[in-house]
Amino acid sequence: MIAAKICLLAGWQVSKPKIIGIKSILAIPYLWENFSAMRYEAINPNLFRLNRKRFARLMKPKSIAIFHSNDQMPRNGDQYYPFRQNSDLFYLSGLDQPEAVVVLFPDCVKDGFQEVAFIKKSNAHIAVWEGHKYTKEEATAISGIEKVYWLDDMDDVLHELILLANRIYLNSNENDRYKSDVLSRDIRYAKGIQQKYPTHKYHRAQPILKKLAMIKSETEIELLQQACDITDNAFRRVLSFTRPGVREYEVEAEIIHEFIRSGANGHGYPPIIAAGANSCILHYDVNDQVCKEGDVLLMDFGAEYANYSADLSRTIPVSGRFTKRQRAVYNAVLKVMKEAITMLVPGTTLEDYHKEVGKLMESELLALKLITKHDIEKQDPKWPAYKKYFMHGTSHHLGLDVHDLCDRYAPIQAGMVFTCEPGIYIPDEGFGIRLEDDILVTDEGPFNLMANIPIEVEEIEEIMNTAETGVIS
Ligand code: GLY
Ligand code: MN
Ligand code: MN
Repeated sequence: MIAAKICLLAGWQVSKPKIIGIKSILAIPYLWENFSAMRYEAINPNLFRLNRKRFARLMKPKSIAIFHSNDQMPRNGDQYYPFRQNSDLFYLSGLDQPEAVVVLFPDCVKDGFQEVAFIKKSNAHIAVWEGHKYTKEEATAISGIEKVYWLDDMDDVLHELILLANRIYLNSNENDRYKSDVLSRDIRYAKGIQQKYPTHKYHRAQPILKKLAMIKSETEIELLQQACDITDNAFRRVLSFTRPGVREYEVEAEIIHEFIRSGANGHGYPPIIAAGANSCILHYDVNDQVCKEGDVLLMDFGAEYANYSADLSRTIPVSGRFTKRQRAVYNAVLKVMKEAITMLVPGTTLEDYHKEVGKLMESELLALKLITKHDIEKQDPKWPAYKKYFMHGTSHHLGLDVHDLCDRYAPIQAGMVFTCEPGIYIPDEGFGIRLEDDILVTDEGPFNLMANIPIEVEEIEEIMNTAETGVIS
């Protein structure tokens, strides 16, 4: 119960799952704890019950909401990319299997149909080729949804429910940075249903989901902490492993080894393992170059545990010692980061926070003689002088996705989790430094979920120089 301790320490009151559904848990033939088909430990279904209840409270009367799983994305030939559940369906149900559908109809007049799930029915062929699929009882145990049907029944069951509703909430990916030519299952479904039921009123589920997902519950903080702890172990492994001559992908291999052995799904996003000048490429992920003596190694990676992602950046010296200049730039970034973290408190807006971080960075860049007072006087206010060396944002919401669902104009509130990731990139000097931790906002101040991960120059150098490099337990 790490998060319980965190919240107690921080005095942050998380809304606890109330008594909803406790009786219904006891009514099922076995407890959710017994279900362990996934890599991660079973999650208390009260998390999903509460998420549905919160969503339902924000729906209009006489409305039904329909949520779909992600597609199994085709790769090539007869292959698919590994399945990753739709974050919104997972948030509302914990169901982590392709094709699951969740339906919410809070004021449904038909008794027992306020929450319904549909899952794919298994058969002997599927059992032989793919293995176990959820039974209805398992779907109930995981999600807390009592009414579970096979997908084959979905059209008939849904038809009856839709005719009892006036409004239909549909989901789609409304991440404001998402662009894709691929039509998601949600979009394909939205087109079909609007043709079939053209006289209903349609609503977007995402504004509600954004509002809810920004504030993490105690269970979610625990899962994020677990993702951060696995990421910590992977970083320590890298500190012991890195030496001149290794390839960036060998470092990547150490990371994924630690992730997988710890029950993580893998990476929450493509890892950046960037040595030397590659550290100035913000989205570098080729990871195929040699780490050389004198280089820095910038790494940005995070374990995904139970679909919750950590997001870490650390920059280390390949040889085990920073040069004087690298150390000066590193400490400038670290200073900005430490001050920025103190500003992640309720009431600030992300916009004001970013302006303040910009000022901190400006003063560090002046001290490093990377910009001059004159540069600042003549700067374009829309693209200030500091942006030449620090051109990305400092913080984003983190949760089920690395760039999590959010309303970026909402004020910062207790329960939000942000990254804090300042950087200075100097292509002319052949290196960049980025540091990134994950921070829980509480009413008592910021709580660093990555507080245990080495970050001070002396710590990093000491571990690198005392470890028997290249030898991993
Ligand atoms: N790793 C992605 C990011 O830091 O935003
Ligand atoms: Mn990152
Ligand atoms: Mn980040």
